[in-house]
Order: sequence, then structure tokens, then C-alpha cells
Amino acid sequence: MTRALVVFAHPCEESFSAALRACVMDRLTARGWEVDLLDLYAEGFDPVLSAAERRGYLDSATNTAPVQGYVDRLRAAQVLVFVFPVWNFGFPAILKGYFDRVFLPGVSFRLENGLVAANLTHIRKLVAVTSYGATPLRAFMAGNPPRKMFTRIIRFICRPDRLRYLALYDMNRATDAQRAAFLAKVGGEMDRL
Ligand SMILES: Cc1cc2nc3c(=O)[nH]c(=O)nc-3n(C[C@H](O)[C@H](O)[C@H](O)COP(=O)(O)O)c2cc1C
Repeated sequence: MTRALVVFAHPCEESFSAALRACVMDRLTARGWEVDLLDLYAEGFDPVLSAAERRGYLDSATNTAPVQGYVDRLRAAQVLVFVFPVWNFGFPAILKGYFDRVFLPGVSFRLENGLVAANLTHIRKLVAVTSYGATPLRAFMAGNPPRKMFTRIIRFICRPDRLRYLALYDMNRATDAQRAAFLAKVGGEMDRL
């Protein structure tokens, strides 16, 4: 059975991000997929990489121990969906910390002669669902780092058959109708994923 891991990074249940998470969960579950929700705030994920983890970072025999449960959930998935708001043209710190602590050598990539090789190739579908306060032009002028992280960096370590970066820009001025249209778009994308 297809198993999806949905990584969610927002502290507030009333947020638009929470509505997007609910939409993703409902539509993927309706497909008969097994869907594992990793709600980073609700689970109290600690995003801080410790000194001991940094020192043991490269040792793939032992580096997963502090985050073994999170690594197991990542390894069990064939579909990976991230739902988060864009903060300071990047990820909320808790999500950045997830990448720092869980996307380890031997997990997300391998080092071969000092060069990065893909190691998340069991992930066949990779999706980001996000929103920005900024307009598309302002995000473009800022270099749009979260978009590049997915379309260039995470894509490289997963090599998915399907990659979708689904973003609602200009949230500060978005009408209810525009938000509803984006939710409908995300729902349709989950149906077709
Ligand atoms: C701490 C913080 C930093 C933010 N930084 C940015 C930013 O750099 N660029 C941007 O487009 N929007 C930024 N925003 C706006 C958020 O993207 C916007 O509030 C969010 O997409 C709305 O969704 P939500 O209801 O799920 O919070 C920021 C918001 C917060 C709270």
C-alpha cells in the first residue's frame, strides 16, 4: 500500500496552513493511502542540532539514534508532502531543524568521495504546499529560497517521478474566494498525485 508522510509546520490550528494540512490529509486518505501526519509543533519536535549530533553527523552507523523514530517514518514513505508557511523567505525554524537533524548522511544522501549522492530514492512523489505574504514578483526578486530548496536540493536527493510546488502568494491581500480556490487546487492535485 502507498504510504505518505505529511510533515506539517505551523503552531496554530486556525491558520491557513492548518486548513491546507486538513485538505491534504483528507484527500490522500480518501485514496486509500496510509497517511502518517508528522505535526512538528504538536509532537514537540526539537529542531536544535546538539553538539553531540554535530560531532557524530557523518557517522551513518550511529547518527540516526537521536531521531530514530523520525528516520523510520521517513524511510517508510513513498510520498512526501510538506505543508508550511514561508517565514523570512525560508522555512519555519522547526522545519529547518527537521531537515538539519533528520536528513542525515546515510538517510537523505550518501557521501561518495566527498560528493553528495541521492539516498531518498524510495520517495516517488514529492510535494510542497505553502503560502507567502509576498507577491510572486517580490518572492522572485528575493530569490525564492524555499522554492529552490524543493526544486533543486530536495528534488536531487529524492529523484521523484512527480514534484509539485504548490504556493499561494500575496496572502496578505488574498480574498476568501482566492483562498478557497487554492484549497480546491491543492485537493485536486492530491487526487491526481
Ligand atoms: C515570522 C513570519 C515571517 C514571515 N516572513 C515572510 C517572508 O519572508 N516572505 C513572505 O512572503 N511572507 C512572510 N510571512 C507571511 C506568511 O507567509 C503568511 O503569514 C502565511 O503564509 C499565512 O499563512 P498562515 O495563516 O498559515 O500563517 C511571514 C510571517 C511570519 C509570521
